[in-house]
Amino acid sequence: MKDLVSITDLNPDEIQNLIKSAVDLKRGGRKLSLDGRTLALIFEKPSLRTRVSFDVAMSQLGGHTIYLSQAEVGLGEREPIADVARVLSRYVNGIVARTFAHHSVALLAKHASIPVINGLSNEEHPCQILSDLLTIHEKKGKLKGLTVVYIGDANNVANSLLLACSLVGMEFRISSPVGYELQDEILTRAQKLGGQITLTVDPTEAAKDADVLYTDVWTSMGQEAEAEHRRMAFTRYQVNEELLSLAKRDVIFMHPLPAHYGEEIAEGLLESPHSVVFDQAENRLHMQKAIIAKLLV
Ligand code: CP
Ligand code: NVA
Repeated sequence: MKDLVSITDLNPDEIQNLIKSAVDLKRGGRKLSLDGRTLALIFEKPSLRTRVSFDVAMSQLGGHTIYLSQAEVGLGEREPIADVARVLSRYVNGIVARTFAHHSVALLAKHASIPVINGLSNEEHPCQILSDLLTIHEKKGKLKGLTVVYIGDANNVANSLLLACSLVGMEFRISSPVGYELQDEILTRAQKLGGQITLTVDPTEAAKDADVLYTDVWTSMGQEAEAEHRRMAFTRYQVNEELLSLAKRDVIFMHPLPAHYGEEIAEGLLESPHSVVFDQAENRLHMQKAIIAKLLV
């Protein structure tokens, strides 16, 4: 495996090994030296967690990052993506790319001779979901057999979560309004992986007996023009105390952040004893180290 473009670039054993490695790195039990290796961070969209966690992970392991915004690189505009990939392959040891089109990160991976890591595309967010699996494992002591319920927009985060659940044997339920459901292509891929999947328009039905209740923004980066329309379509899909009370008593609540309070989550929900959202954010750092260790060392 050279790249991490989709979560399905990993098999279940590789996912388990990444979790083990992240746990070890978090405990300080494993020492790694990147010996001055460099990771380029190409971001077409804003980022706090992904950018900072990769940057800090590299510096704590003895490497460096170079941040390249779309204004600087003009991926596919100033020059073809294939050329950016081939040039960067001569300078650095890996690329993290956050793109609009999923095709852009896939094309970088195809033409680069170095590892390319998807730092979020319109279709997937594999690094987020790997660190979320680490968080679920820490909180629940296992993955297999748990029920993960996702409420809201069937977006990049939902896609990677669905595929990951299908890979590791977790039941996945999703509740989205009509017109914002999972794409058939993703659903078919998940079913082929043996996924146990339930789709429902009723969020209260979905939330029943959940081990993990997960949500994400209604309007993702790049969809800002649709925000008002989406706010209306998603009104019933807010995660609040009432919805949480339908889940198991020890349910954990997860959100990748940034959060839009009053939209997909009620004001104050991150302060609930069920919320693991800031542990989830911290684990981005530990999982990025495990990903770097797997692909760059
Ligand atoms: N969760 C996440 O990817 O956050 P950023 O967009 O801030 O990187
Ligand atoms: N679905 C969100 C995730 C942000 C981390 C977006 O793409 O904007």
